[in-house]
Amino acid sequence: MTDRRKFLGLLAASPLLAGIPSIGQALAQATSLPGVDNLIARAADALDVFDLEAVARRNIPPAHWGFMATGVDGEETLKANREAYSRYQLRTRRFVDVSKMDMSVDLFGTKFRSPIFLCPLSAQRAFHPEGEIASGKAAQARGQLQVLSTVSSTSVEDVIAARGSPVWFQLYTTNNWDITVKLVKRAEAAGCPVVAVTVDLPAGRNTETVTRLARTDTRTCTSCHAAGGSSPLTRPMFAGNDITGISVSSPSLTWDFIKRLKDVTSMKVLIKGLDSGEDAALAVKNGADGVVVSNHGGRATETGRGTLESLPEVVAAVRGRIPVLVDGGVRRGTDVLKALALGATAVGIGRPYVWGLGAFGQPGVERVLDLLNNELRLAMAGVGARSLREITAASVIRKS
Ligand SMILES: Cc1cc2nc3c(=O)[nH]c(=O)nc-3n(C[C@H](O)[C@H](O)[C@H](O)COP(=O)(O)O)c2cc1C
Repeated sequence: MTDRRKFLGLLAASPLLAGIPSIGQALAQATSLPGVDNLIARAADALDVFDLEAVARRNIPPAHWGFMATGVDGEETLKANREAYSRYQLRTRRFVDVSKMDMSVDLFGTKFRSPIFLCPLSAQRAFHPEGEIASGKAAQARGQLQVLSTVSSTSVEDVIAARGSPVWFQLYTTNNWDITVKLVKRAEAAGCPVVAVTVDLPAGRNTETVTRLARTDTRTCTSCHAAGGSSPLTRPMFAGNDITGISVSSPSLTWDFIKRLKDVTSMKVLIKGLDSGEDAALAVKNGADGVVVSNHGGRATETGRGTLESLPEVVAAVRGRIPVLVDGGVRRGTDVLKALALGATAVGIGRPYVWGLGAFGQPGVERVLDLLNNELRLAMAGVGARSLREITAASVIRKS
């Protein structure tokens, strides 16, 4: 096997194939993707997050894998998120003493080890029996921020108790104000200092990949999912509520929601899921304490821009008045650095930590954080930045 891979690697790099890019590319891909027979056996062996993706792919059943991987329609936004990062390159600086490095970030008075945070991802027990508890303990062990979804498979109280420190709460607004207020009060009472309101799914979505992969899944869903199937309304945060007629989001939502929300909570209010300068300016005007430039990991509006492409106009509109966070397509520490250089305060990861979770549980998520933090450290050293403040627009350049 090793010999075959070596041979393919040599062949892919051969100048003989230089004029035939498709064959060269196909072979290069064949050599870079681990096959099922050479998957890593321990989280510690992962060299990048993709090693964990391969193991998670083997472990997670097709319907659940589809739920994680899916974008919407033809998945153009999903691809755009990733492609945006390859349009920027790092601009190196030399002879800077980078022997001591501080990657910490302060968000609303709490210091985190690095600007990398765990995005809210619903129903994590679909990927590993310990779900959000494992992710939470990993985030706690590594000193990173975790944002917990409204439709998590474990309640906010249980996650906070298991990890022993607060998380931020992601809010789906629902179409019922009373239930929304209950969710918000519950998160606040549990100790969440920040609520991130997701606004990018006002009217549902068309997720094709999840449906296609679910069709290939031979298991019987009802043997795990109770009656009601995998509806988000069956999750713990909705327990005890009459969910008749309830939907997790509402098509009639307008900006006054933010003011109403601020009137019922003392948590900081972030808006997650905008990508235009106009909306960023309105967010500040309507009292938001921060924004997350996000397109739900390519799972909301189709044929949108990659979030890295949207980030500069949001940063320009916000003019430093509130923090601007970003997520979508981040797979490398260099990606994190690029987002910081374009003005982000913190950078979220979604699917990569679920790959770690699905591969090895808590140690897998810890490994994802270690890998990305280490890659970020190396990238910072490369551009001569000893702290996040020293990462500036001059640290990157857009490809001509
Ligand atoms: C399986 C899955 C579930 C998600 N669930 C939620 C959610 O409950 N609430 C939310 O605001 N965003 C949710 N998101 C979006 C993430 O918070 C985040 O914006 C996105 O995953 C970042 O992109 P990335 O996966 O490319 O890193 C989900 C994303 C995935 C992949």
